[in-house]
Amino acid sequence: MRLDILTLFPEIFAPLFASIPARAQTSSRVQVELHNLRDWGRGRHRQVDDVPFGGGPGMVIQAEPLAAAIRAVGAMDPRPPRVIYLTPQGTPLTQTLVEELADRPRLVLVCGHYEGIDERIRESLVDQEISIGDYVLSGGELPAMVLADALIRLVPGVIDSESVARESFSTGLLDHPHYSRPAVFEGLSVPEVLLSGHHGRIEEWRREQALLNTARRRPDLLEALDLSQRDRELLTRFQPPGSGPGP
Ligand SMILES: C[S@@+](CC[C@H](N)C(=O)[O-])C[C@H]1O[C@@H](n2cnc3c(N)ncnc32)[C@H](O)[C@@H]1O
Repeated sequence: MRLDILTLFPEIFAPLFASIPARAQTSSRVQVELHNLRDWGRGRHRQVDDVPFGGGPGMVIQAEPLAAAIRAVGAMDPRPPRVIYLTPQGTPLTQTLVEELADRPRLVLVCGHYEGIDERIRESLVDQEISIGDYVLSGGELPAMVLADALIRLVPGVIDSESVARESFSTGLLDHPHYSRPAVFEGLSVPEVLLSGHHGRIEEWRREQALLNTARRRPDLLEALDLSQRDRELLTRFQPPGSGPGP
């Protein structure tokens, strides 16, 4: 997968060059390219923004440098990219959306700043708009890093496929609890089944715990799932009707 990121602040992308994203690039499974929008700016100051037509506060990233940048970056690889603009007005990012995008070989992520980008770019060159939540950040850099990180860990071979398959949202449920040594910490013991070495029982316990975790913390996720009869029995065993979702 190749990710091209168009930004006014390439220097803040350090998290994409550490830990798992860094390993993904070293192993050539992922290529992340940062492009400074100012390289397509006007004049000595490489200007890319101007005041909004109609007046009002803030600046707008102009259509001309942004269009030139998107086209130039698009032509840097023979695979045509999907162009994504990160904006609070976009489709909310979910694991399902990340999974859909992870199948694409190439994405261009456009980071806005100030009041955003000229609307005509959204109409003509942007294929998709994504939001990382209903709040407003100063720029699209953090959202682009959030999306890039979520995508990179789904690229085959980047992390253990079994661990991806079990993670929160992948199965529609939240993950089960995890424990490591010591077996007793400040009087709190690890559930005995995890020390039993009995794989069948451990698997069953993990499924139960994932169901309960979801029922307690995100009951809305359960409503969207087609639960088996056994899952339903488990839930009513631990949460009799009327007991509420809990803390
Ligand atoms: C201050 S915001 C502009 C907000 C815009 N005027 C609005 O009210 O919709 C500047 C840039 O930050 C990015 N941004 C801010 N919040 C975001 C979010 N929740 N999700 C994705 N991108 C966001 C976008 O790229 C946006 O162009």
